[in-house]
Amino acid sequence: MPEHRDYDYNEEARNYDATRGGDARATAAANAVHELLPAGSRILDIGGGTGLVANFLLKLGHEVTVIDSSAEMIRMCEARGTVPAVHADATSLPFPSSSIDNAIMIWLLHIVEDPAPFIAEMARVLKPGGRFVTTVDKLQSSKPGHTRARTDAPELISRLCQEAGLAEQAPSSFVGYGQQGEPVYQLAVFERI
Ligand SMILES: C[S@@+](CC[C@H](N)C(=O)[O-])C[C@H]1O[C@@H](n2cnc3c(N)ncnc32)[C@H](O)[C@@H]1O
Repeated sequence: MPEHRDYDYNEEARNYDATRGGDARATAAANAVHELLPAGSRILDIGGGTGLVANFLLKLGHEVTVIDSSAEMIRMCEARGTVPAVHADATSLPFPSSSIDNAIMIWLLHIVEDPAPFIAEMARVLKPGGRFVTTVDKLQSSKPGHTRARTDAPELISRLCQEAGLAEQAPSSFVGYGQQGEPVYQLAVFERI
């Protein structure tokens, strides 16, 4: 299983919603994703954690399933009792090829060692015409001047998506309400060819 940078999400799970901008942060992210997908979409929230963002997408009329590799994050999501939660690794999704309508990764790609297997596996399961929305350059937005590898750099994610058969659409952004300094986060949007 790929290593998580910075955090042990099993230890973080209990305090995650309270310490990461809570409802304000999750509502802002869900509203931004909502604008980029058709009404009433079916969405796989990859690295969806406690399901906080997924829960707001549900309230906006979407059908959402969370997958996450942390058993404790999945337990928190299940305790919420609103969206289905699957304990699985994003680099080995338990779904057939071309079976998923739309996929999102919110604050996932900046913590991984190598985004390539995450993009390749998402592309495998995504149906032709399905959309993929992901945060990019998360740390640039919230911690400008950081020195870590930009594993979610927009140009890298664009190249990996193109190689995996996804066409880039117009980018988007949203304000991280509930977060210190209210950073402006970038979203990249792709469509499976
Ligand atoms: C920064 S949190 C974001 C959670 C959620 N997307 C949100 O915005 O509230 C990153 C999440 O990705 C999960 N994650 C990390 N590596 C993963 C992997 N290889 N497969 C699935 N989930 C992973 C972590 O367990 C954690 O829940």
